[in-house]
Amino acid sequence: MTATSHGRARFLWAAVSVVFVETIITGLALAPAVLFIHWQSTWSLSTWPRLALASLAFVPVYLMCACSLMLYSALATKALGWRTPANVELPLSEYSWPVLHWGRYLMTIHVVRIFAGPAFRSTTIWNWYMRLNGARLGRNVWVNSLSLMDHNLLEFADGVVIGSDAHVSGHVVERGILRTASVRLGRNTLVGIGSVVGIGVQSGADVQVGALSVVPKFTTLEAGGVYVGVPVVRLH
Ligand SMILES: CC(C)(COP(=O)(O)OP(=O)(O)OC[C@H]1O[C@@H](n2cnc3c(N)ncnc32)[C@H](O)[C@@H]1OP(=O)(O)O)[C@@H](O)C(=O)NCCC(=O)NCCS
Repeated sequence: MTATSHGRARFLWAAVSVVFVETIITGLALAPAVLFIHWQSTWSLSTWPRLALASLAFVPVYLMCACSLMLYSALATKALGWRTPANVELPLSEYSWPVLHWGRYLMTIHVVRIFAGPAFRSTTIWNWYMRLNGARLGRNVWVNSLSLMDHNLLEFADGVVIGSDAHVSGHVVERGILRTASVRLGRNTLVGIGSVVGIGVQSGADVQVGALSVVPKFTTLEAGGVYVGVPVVRLH
């Protein structure tokens, strides 16, 4: 086998394994709902009470499935070691194992954010999922955005607030190279609505990043500063 065919074989294995794992996780998460529907079909009810019951069951069943999905997904990535490698520069095209671990980790996060994110973002349950999935979050952290990836490279101190649609992740792909670095946000840092925080960014305590701003990679934001713009400049 040439290096390229080894890479293709690794890619194929990664694709098959992530679909397999997602199938198991989703099946386990849906199992209580399927069992409930089956059990409910055995009750001797007339049509209208049956339809009313099925309608009323929708929200609790969805919430239960979504919580189960978060739990099983985080446990699976932990057990399988699917994490974003820290501080690397790796070509995507070689399909090395660290790149494939990263890819599978992001796919699991993507599935959870599609099915559970809309209901649970900006809640303590979402923080609990992120922590179990590798993030280091302090107390009273509010993550009101589903555009946070590479959870294991995110460190948010107490009181951090992430505004809706803000993008924070520990990776960037530049000219075919995957680059990664941790993002560390200090106590009470606010990332404004729709802003982008690059890899390797660090902030001191009480920093505010204005709405629709871009913090370039590896920027250090000084404690107490208010930063706005594309790229950010210190306002005061
Ligand atoms: C950046 C921010 C904190 C500044 O608030 P502030 O210190 O009270 O400053 P002001 O509103 O008085 O604005 C000061 C100047 O900055 C400008 N400015 C404010 N926000 C800006 C932004 N996001 N981008 C560019 N310029 C901005 C104002 O136009 C003003 O300019 P001027 O002096 O030329 O008139 C605030 O505007 C902001 O964007 N907050 C984020 C809110 C958010 O997204 N919250 C998330 C959910 S809670």
